[in-house]
Amino acid sequence: MMAKKILLLVLLVMTAVNINITAAGSIEPTALKCEYRVNPLGIDANPPRLSWILESSDRGQKQTAYRVLVASNEEKLKAEQGDLWDSKKISSDQSVHVVYAGQPLRSRMRCHWKTRVWDKDGKVSAWSQPALWSMGLLKHADWKAKWICFDTSAFNEDPELHLPPSPYLRKEFKVNRKIRRATVYVSALGLFELFINGWRVGRDHFAPGWTNYRKRVYYLTYDVTDLLKDGDNAIGAILANGWYAGYVGFDPMHKKRARGRAFYGQTPALLAQLEIECEDGKSQIVATDENWKASTGPIRKTDILMGETYDARLEMPGWDRPGFDDQVWKVVTLMDAARCKIEAYPGVTVQVTQEIRPIEITKPKEGVYVFNMGQNFAGRVRLKVKGKAGTKVVLRFAEMLHKDGSIMTENLRRARCTDAYIFRGNGEDEIWEPRFTYHGFQYVELTGYPGKPDLGAITGIVLHSAAPVAGSFECSNAMVNKLYSNITWTQRANFFDIPTDCPQRDERLGWTGDAQIYIRSATYNMDVAAFFKKWLVNLEDDQRPSGAFPDFAPLPYLQYEPSPGWMDAGVICPFTIYQVYGDTHVIERHYEAMTKFMDFLLRTGKDYLRSPRGHCWGDWLSIGGRTSNDLIATAYFAYDAKLMAEMAAAIGRMEDAQRYARLFDNIKTAFNKAYVSANGRIKGDTQTCYALALYMDLLPQALKEKAGARLVELIRERNWHLSTGFLGVKYLLPALTEEGYVDVAFRLLTNKTYPSWGYSIENGATTIWERWNSYKKGKGFQDSYMNSFNHYAFGSVCEWMFVFMAGIDTDGAGFKRITIRPQPGGSGITYTKASYDSIYGRIATYWRVRDGKFLLDLTIPANTTATVYIPARDADSITEGGKPASKAEAVQFLRIEDGKAVFAVGSGRYRFISSLPTARQVDETK
Ligand code: BGC
Repeated sequence: MMAKKILLLVLLVMTAVNINITAAGSIEPTALKCEYRVNPLGIDANPPRLSWILESSDRGQKQTAYRVLVASNEEKLKAEQGDLWDSKKISSDQSVHVVYAGQPLRSRMRCHWKTRVWDKDGKVSAWSQPALWSMGLLKHADWKAKWICFDTSAFNEDPELHLPPSPYLRKEFKVNRKIRRATVYVSALGLFELFINGWRVGRDHFAPGWTNYRKRVYYLTYDVTDLLKDGDNAIGAILANGWYAGYVGFDPMHKKRARGRAFYGQTPALLAQLEIECEDGKSQIVATDENWKASTGPIRKTDILMGETYDARLEMPGWDRPGFDDQVWKVVTLMDAARCKIEAYPGVTVQVTQEIRPIEITKPKEGVYVFNMGQNFAGRVRLKVKGKAGTKVVLRFAEMLHKDGSIMTENLRRARCTDAYIFRGNGEDEIWEPRFTYHGFQYVELTGYPGKPDLGAITGIVLHSAAPVAGSFECSNAMVNKLYSNITWTQRANFFDIPTDCPQRDERLGWTGDAQIYIRSATYNMDVAAFFKKWLVNLEDDQRPSGAFPDFAPLPYLQYEPSPGWMDAGVICPFTIYQVYGDTHVIERHYEAMTKFMDFLLRTGKDYLRSPRGHCWGDWLSIGGRTSNDLIATAYFAYDAKLMAEMAAAIGRMEDAQRYARLFDNIKTAFNKAYVSANGRIKGDTQTCYALALYMDLLPQALKEKAGARLVELIRERNWHLSTGFLGVKYLLPALTEEGYVDVAFRLLTNKTYPSWGYSIENGATTIWERWNSYKKGKGFQDSYMNSFNHYAFGSVCEWMFVFMAGIDTDGAGFKRITIRPQPGGSGITYTKASYDSIYGRIATYWRVRDGKFLLDLTIPANTTATVYIPARDADSITEGGKPASKAEAVQFLRIEDGKAVFAVGSGRYRFISSLPTARQVDETK
């Protein structure tokens, strides 16, 4: 009897415990990241920052405290021993950018970590899944490896260009102990692919990325424990000139300099250090040194812009495995590259993210086959062939076709973009894909193919910086959905280690104007924090001695005086990363450079106005109406000052914040005096000047309305079309919307006639064109000298689509507070559905207009709050979850503002339904 009672008691206690556990599960820390990355290896951010996302289905859920444990091994972490750091319970709602504050971090340390949090009611969550980061080689002295190279210039087979074969490098070694862990740290001046015992190491391409190699070069870290074996092993690498020694950009001076290449060095080099830890505590290092051997191999030519040629007859089977006879291989040369810093790669590496099957083959001429991939993209193709040894097939790439069906390569300019494969010819299928080149293309021309190829002969390989996808967007307008697809494809094609202007012609440079205009849009599509973290270092490394940021970064050769609207990327891009990710570290990292830039602007201006001499791109590629360079320069000067004031305040530099705020006021006053008349007319009277002035807050309150009206007039004068170029386009729709002309903004967005986004889509675009008139019916292609079909600047309208159509925006920095303000404005758009994975988790909206009713389904992530604007006739008619909104859980009515009921909500899912005010009723007939 007694035993039964005890059992019952135990069961009851267990149930109670269980209940408690279930309750504790109301909030769950997930998606642990260190410096924006999942389980990064070999970092050198010290101390690193840790972030997590809180999952919860509760409303109004938030974190009130957290505890982070960091342990030197998994067992300790499991046993809750934070021997590196036990933060203990910290009362805080901070769940992003938590700075590690434990034991000093040293080279090679592995840091296993987890976190648990306390929710709004003080209930503790379960521990998160464990995560990891490891430290890289933090001191120069950690590097035992030496830079090695093998100059293959003498083997250049190209009659016109300098395209020497790729060097192959190798070394064999023995491991006589049981291996516990093997880690390789690897870098190159140029590009590398690394192999161990026949296996390719990692999934990264175009590593270690593009830097100002005179100042710094990056290395990558890989865990290669599984690739090694007891006994004989081999390590090898293939190198390519890449950005370091290959052809880069278009360098108009190249004729004088007779090269257009080798801006940083002549010969690519490798630095690799394989560290093997054995079970018995001993360790072994295999590093690049004078004992490595080198040879040329089947890659006969390779260059990012020019293409790659591979002769399969020259393959050296087993060169990257032990036991290969390398007697005839040469000894490598040591290279002194000690002057540049070697740092851990902080960005997002280029990877293969998708394969594409061609949709059609045409034959414009005998022996010439053209594959249509159905999509313009950046990458290359994998070829499948079979035939006689020595047969050579040639692949050329293009974005467009001529009328006769032949490929249009004129717009590639000096980029040869030609790959060639020479058959091994052993009677089997041969599969080949180049390694060190990429192209921007939709069409592939194949010549020399024995017989008639089928669609399986080539496969498209999509390459780009593999930043996690962060957004989704859909609405009731098919053209706008296609536009969104085109924008994301253009971003993918151009986020290629750095933000490039285009992926096809002899340019592919990190043009700063394009980047600053597009960056905010980019954040809605991908998590680009780490990507820009890397590029901002590129930008700072090439800041001019004057303090001006360059026109493009990296800057392999000096070209133009930096232009307004371009150089301002040095302030706008760090600001955007701060704004979107709440990252104050990025401000601190670049603060000095930004200050130097502001001093430059002030120094080279007069009476708070700027009249830049030298090169100005103006409102690049605008059509009709020229906005004055002085006005643009002064507007950006003011905007920079405004952003600087905000950034200075964010890092606690209050005096600077006030100084920059005053500077902004002074520039604004000067701007108005110089360019704005009493009736609100702005000098130049272009769409861009009004859009800039309104967006950048350069007008006195009293003139805003007039400026807005004039902007609409100018649009109407063009029969409701835009005329903005790179700089105006981003601000146009937001300025219209803020001034109450959301209907005009929608009209521009959904236009299909020239010039418009829709016009390119009507003409078959699958990416964003460089120019509104890249192609015109009846006229054909624009001047091929500058005509890319894959340029993201005009895609900067994406920001408006998320902020105003989907209504998702940050309120302050970092989406801790969120604004939800959808604009069911017109052009017959009856619904919009979008999501954005903010640093706190997913924000999602779906709105629909039907029968005078507005419905909003909303998801707000835990640990954030949102202000929600519901278009409504009156607040009383609004329901949430079927109940009057005023009675809904975690929903607080704030006010009525401009025909919208404003609510404060916490995290959770909500469904609001309102009756639309008649004046704002969507006209679905247009
Ligand atoms: C690039 C642009 C860039 C511009 C400067 C062009 O050649 O492709 O995107 O911003 O030069 O005006």
